Amino acid sequence: MPSDLDLSTKLGDIAMKNPLVLASGVMGTSPTLLERAALSGTGAITAKSCGLKQREGHPNPVMVAWEHGLLNAIGLTNPGVDEEVELLEATKASLKPLGVPLFASIFAGSLKDFSFVAEKIKKVEPDLIEVNISCPNVHDEFGLPFAANPESAAEVTKVVKSEVGNIPISIKLAPNVPNIGVIAEAVEKAGADMITAVNTMPGMVIDAEAARPVLSNKTGGISGPALKPIALQCVAQIARSVSVPIIGTGGITTGRDAIEMIMAGASAVGVGSALWYRGPEAFELILDEIRVFMRAHSMDAIKEIIGKALKN
Ligand SMILES: Cc1cc2nc3c(=O)[nH]c(=O)nc-3n(C[C@H](O)[C@H](O)[C@H](O)COP(=O)(O)O)c2cc1C
Repeated sequence: MPSDLDLSTKLGDIAMKNPLVLASGVMGTSPTLLERAALSGTGAITAKSCGLKQREGHPNPVMVAWEHGLLNAIGLTNPGVDEEVELLEATKASLKPLGVPLFASIFAGSLKDFSFVAEKIKKVEPDLIEVNISCPNVHDEFGLPFAANPESAAEVTKVVKSEVGNIPISIKLAPNVPNIGVIAEAVEKAGADMITAVNTMPGMVIDAEAARPVLSNKTGGISGPALKPIALQCVAQIARSVSVPIIGTGGITTGRDAIEMIMAGASAVGVGSALWYRGPEAFELILDEIRVFMRAHSMDAIKEIIGKALKN
């Protein structure tokens, strides 16, 4: 159907044809899978987080669907930065003709490793480097996430930004902090070009019959519908605290969810677990629902509704 609606948005200088972003991790880093997501309509693609060295991740079971969301503890499975560079090169080549920006994602356990991984990834020249300082599932190895306090979050931001120069960076924050606005202010001051909010929320699902947690890691990160109100609150608080753009992520399953997230102050909207709930056509379905909502409410452009709910 021809559309008079303007779904385009911007993340700094990054132009997107629509506000949807494939969230990190949900479709891995395979160039074929990421290209398929791009072909199914998303405005931008985020690859799975990559670290210095190859990681197997946690043993199965690593994911469970419960009544109100998903719980996962994949454990940052990734091929290591050298192979990641090759995968990202291939993905970049296939996304370019489609006009879909590619966001890399990196994690590390120390400032030195963040610097090293960033240095390698910058050679791919992705449109954005997302800096995952908030994975809740690797405490045993990495200790408290850098996203847990403003000082450590700012330190990582400074290190990565000084390494990658002109490539924009987005710092991915955790929902389980007392005041996410303070962390957002610290990373903005330290040079973050934007903020992705949020990563999954720590949680546990117990199998009463077996009298044990379902996941091998015992705890995991909650995503999907249960995360939405938490994510909306985090994004609204960040939007009130900083002026950099926000990729609002957490529980976006329908077009109405996406509209709510944009009204909370997000310039773009991460979509992850919705692919599990609605299948590979999730992006198309969400975009159609956004259009229906906009028409029904006489809205012309996505850009006009960013932060609308904060004014009321
Ligand atoms: C299976 C799975 C794997 C994930 N892997 C990553 C990852 O590698 N890096 C990251 O920053 N976030 C990762 N996430 C978090 C998502 O990017 C997103 O922040 C979170 O799931 C909330 O969005 P959603 O409710 O739309 O899924 C993962 C989430 C899931 C469900």
